[in-house]
Amino acid sequence: MNWKNCRKAVIVGGTSGIGYGIARKVAADAPQAKVIISGRHQPDDIAQSNIEFVRLDATSMREIKKYTDALKSQQEKIDLLVLSQGVISFTKQSTEENLDKTIALMYTGRQMLIRELLPVLTNDARVIIILNAVRGDGSTLDYNNLDLNKKMSLGKMITHPMTLNDGMVQWFAREQIEKNKSGSSQHHRLFVHAFPGWVKTDIGKTLPWPIRMMGAISMYFKGVSADECAVHMLNGSYKDSDKEGWLNINDVGDSLNGKRHIFTDEQLDKIAKYTWESIDNALLTPQSTK
Ligand SMILES: NC(=O)c1ccc[n+]([C@@H]2O[C@H](COP(=O)([O-])OP(=O)(O)OC[C@H]3O[C@@H](n4cnc5c(N)ncnc54)[C@H](OP(=O)(O)O)[C@@H]3O)[C@@H](O)[C@H]2O)c1
Repeated sequence: MNWKNCRKAVIVGGTSGIGYGIARKVAADAPQAKVIISGRHQPDDIAQSNIEFVRLDATSMREIKKYTDALKSQQEKIDLLVLSQGVISFTKQSTEENLDKTIALMYTGRQMLIRELLPVLTNDARVIIILNAVRGDGSTLDYNNLDLNKKMSLGKMITHPMTLNDGMVQWFAREQIEKNKSGSSQHHRLFVHAFPGWVKTDIGKTLPWPIRMMGAISMYFKGVSADECAVHMLNGSYKDSDKEGWLNINDVGDSLNGKRHIFTDEQLDKIAKYTWESIDNALLTPQSTK
């Protein structure tokens, strides 16, 4: 399996930066593929005719439900699902569905997209979460404070979604192995959490200008282009599939498995329970009439 054989790719956070870089690479290398890019704003320079924009605010679980239902109704299988939506935010803000906005974007919404689209993924699909597969730390996760309601710090707010995404790639892989063993499916999908490294994108555009300036200087010296990053992310995710069904990769696409925390079954179950309950509760919140 290679992205060049892809027939349908869905890239959330695909309207700019790393996600758009991946979309352009897949669309160019797989001219037969339909590449759907999603975010809140349509890019005005889509040059490739096989890239299609579908709007999505991925902080809203209700919007995600409508979006995934529409994709499922198309009866086309998805070979590649990339989740690259992100912002840099240091403030705590709630969504209308009572979720922390940053966690909803970086974690909860990503997991909902995977869960809802699983039935239409091909048997050997790739799911790639672009966030930070090196900084999360499963060994220090407080399982009694998964919603961060009891104790919270800026550092935790930043690393928490990374750790939880680390856990969930292992959870999806474990579920797949169990279903394959029981004979109820034969899937060889790979769930990847990737660290893109320093990439020259507009992610810092909403930060105060002194921080933006410092970021721009670091990027100038250390950053790679979104196009270069896209090649590393795709190469790393399509290397000979790891039998475990999950992979953490670094900025050049090398596997970090063996260096990462392995969650126990009990830990994975707690993370998954918290995640599915957060989504289900968000979907049950009364809808605003505004
Ligand atoms: N750039 C780096 O050096 C770097 C380093 C480490 C990790 N990362 C991670 O990599 C991911 C991609 O970052 P990037 O640098 O490519 O940033 P970017 O250029 O700003 O792209 C972010 C993407 O997220 C989308 N997005 C933001 N809010 C959204 C929302 N509410 N709903 C749906 N889509 C939304 C944006 O689309 P719209 O504006 O159209 O909504 C855009 O497509 C992020 O998770 C970031 O944390 C980046």
